[in-house]
Amino acid sequence: MTSASSDPTTTTSAGSDPTISPGDAKVAVVTGASSGIGEATAKELAAQGFHVVVGARRFDRVSALAREIGGTAVELDITDQSSVDALVAALPRVDVLVNNAGGAKGMASVADAVIDDWTWMWETNVLGTLRITKALLPGLIASGDGLIVTVTSTAALEAYDNGAGYTSAKHAEAVLHRTLRLELLGQPVRLTEVCPGMVETEFSMVRFGGDQARADAVYEGLTPLIADDIAEIIGFVASRPSRVNLDQIVVRPRDQATSRRNIKTG
Ligand SMILES: NC(=O)c1ccc[n+]([C@@H]2O[C@H](COP(=O)([O-])OP(=O)(O)OC[C@H]3O[C@@H](n4cnc5c(N)ncnc54)[C@H](OP(=O)(O)O)[C@@H]3O)[C@@H](O)[C@H]2O)c1
Repeated sequence: MTSASSDPTTTTSAGSDPTISPGDAKVAVVTGASSGIGEATAKELAAQGFHVVVGARRFDRVSALAREIGGTAVELDITDQSSVDALVAALPRVDVLVNNAGGAKGMASVADAVIDDWTWMWETNVLGTLRITKALLPGLIASGDGLIVTVTSTAALEAYDNGAGYTSAKHAEAVLHRTLRLELLGQPVRLTEVCPGMVETEFSMVRFGGDQARADAVYEGLTPLIADDIAEIIGFVASRPSRVNLDQIVVRPRDQATSRRNIKTG
């Protein structure tokens, strides 16, 4: 693999006539690269020599990141088929897909479920991941050595009170990913599911509608993971030999035993 550093940084926007010029570098697409785990992962993969295509709805952020890492910024909304189609049309090749875009909205019991929040979570985490994975699958197979990393969550493994909208969406996203692992057996594509516990990013700000105090309270009194912790793991996955498939990686802070128990809850 050659370095992406000699390639010109490019920016594309859905609906335009974009060009992505990776040179000889392998191409990694990272969804949700405008913050948190996605941003850190893009930096990690760029450092490994990938030409990284960084996608998110906040184009200003991915533009700045693309300039920094010598990649390509794409205005991408994974809940919008035309946005995904524009990305696919612009890609000359794809070797790695990191399905990272996602998140939670609200915390409510099933009895008090907010349908709009559930709709957002399912459309983003489940249908969005399906939409972009389906679209890039032919290219990943054609690469001869494809890799799909899906960032689900420990919420894909466990249920917790007031979390059913998010845990159900993450379970569904995980089953989509694990089913592909079965269906692609014999094809040159590896699939890795990364299931993080608590990571301090913009996740809680999004979940609580921009309520900084409520978001901060989530991380007070314990030491959460940081985005780089997950990015380094994804970098490790991407740098294994083609014969090695890390199927599922569960990673939590030392201070968190399960989604329901941490050093604050006892
Ligand atoms: N933080 C945690 O504790 C934790 C734990 C386990 C799993 N996870 C998962 O890790 C992933 C990354 O989350 P994070 O913690 O890094 O949170 P974050 O900082 O809020 O990042 C979420 C990213 O997803 C993007 N995104 C949201 N909707 C999108 C859409 N429709 N199309 C394209 N991009 C979209 C956001 O970009 P735009 O808003 O600019 O589009 C942002 O870049 C998520 O799937 C999350 O569920 C997080």
